[in-house]
Amino acid sequence: MTASVKGFSKLSKTQKIDWIAQHYTHDPEATKTILRQYWNSDLELQRLHDEFIENTLTNYYLPLGIAPNFLINNSYYAIPMAIEESSVVAAASKAAKFWETRGGFKTKIIGTEKVGQVHFIFPGSYQKLTAFFTTIKGNLVSAAKTITQNMEKRGGGITAIELRDKTHLIANYYQLHCTFETQDAMGANFINSCLEQFAETLKAEAQQYSLFSAEEKEIDVVMSILSNYVPRCLVRAEVSCPIANLQEDTAISPEEFAQKMIQAVQIAQVEPFRAVTHNKGIMNGIDAVILATGNDFRAVEAGVHAYAARNGSYRSLTDASVENGIFKFWLELPLALGTVGGLTRLHPLVKLALEILQKPSAKELMEIVAVAGLAQNFAALRSLVTTGIQQGHMKMHLLNILNQLGASTAEKEVLINHFKTNTVSHNAALEALHQLRSS
Ligand code: MEV
Repeated sequence: MTASVKGFSKLSKTQKIDWIAQHYTHDPEATKTILRQYWNSDLELQRLHDEFIENTLTNYYLPLGIAPNFLINNSYYAIPMAIEESSVVAAASKAAKFWETRGGFKTKIIGTEKVGQVHFIFPGSYQKLTAFFTTIKGNLVSAAKTITQNMEKRGGGITAIELRDKTHLIANYYQLHCTFETQDAMGANFINSCLEQFAETLKAEAQQYSLFSAEEKEIDVVMSILSNYVPRCLVRAEVSCPIANLQEDTAISPEEFAQKMIQAVQIAQVEPFRAVTHNKGIMNGIDAVILATGNDFRAVEAGVHAYAARNGSYRSLTDASVENGIFKFWLELPLALGTVGGLTRLHPLVKLALEILQKPSAKELMEIVAVAGLAQNFAALRSLVTTGIQQGHMKMHLLNILNQLGASTAEKEVLINHFKTNTVSHNAALEALHQLRSS
């Protein structure tokens, strides 16, 4: 039944749906219905979404929730989160509420440096290349002026261009390692345009450089591309309070709670199997805000995990300490974000999310996102070292199970009540539903 196709992108949306239904699904009519069901009746809005990517068939929904009561640097935020995992928004909200009465979250921007590289092959010595680079460096910058002038008006631009010798890794391999300030833009297009211009100038100048041999004049540019590793585009978020204020509604004492939290973080610092899950929990919070604000979660994910492994082994992004009776819990991570450009002006929900966040600058968004990650990790560790994760997790997952089992609204109401005092599992929910129906 499966098939290949030529010119698929040229088909109309309906024709694409017909083709996929005919060749790739078991019930073509049901496929067509479901794909159309998710179209928006507002044709303009639908067209906007159709044009975000190639070969759009329909829209793919995720819930957009709000975690309120985040006190960040003494201001309140309600944080929009787009995510499918049932417990994430609840956990963030719970952590926000916990820290609201304990001084809230404090944040700091450590740096905003973005990076891009021109990777090239030069069949000559580093000394000769350095002399050439020193001569043409100013031209690299001036030839990119048409690209940089607007960014410069906003206080950004190229901050450095460095020649790097990588011949110990690959024969004749050198780089222009370039850094940028992109203000409120994530800056991917700006950086890539600058880099491609640098590459052009580099090749053209080499052709003219009289001290190069004929072979050396042929600089071979392999690629010019930004780096999603931005270890100097860094933000820190922190919470702290006297240990005595950590009093929980759980059975354990504040001292024991603080100690267990520290141990949980220590384990994630030395044990990669745990660190990955620990950081996954942080990314639950980070990605949800990144998605809601139309930022690139793949870029952030790649950069964050590289940062977590920067010292040679993968470790926790958060840290915790107890000093002089004060419990401190913090997170430091790289985030290249934008609040202008990209989807921010196009997607109505992204615009709304940014409005809810009081139209933040990119720096402010970095701070909010870092706080969401820290809150998420605090909530996860707090459950893990006290009740265990499943209690809260399964409570939140209950609705998904009941929906899967086809429970009606009235049945759900009864069963949610029932599971307030009973342990949730798929089987337990199935059994309770049977019992309810037969009673
Ligand atoms: C689940 O999505 C995330 C957690 O596993 C994170 C953690 O273990 O720290 C709960």
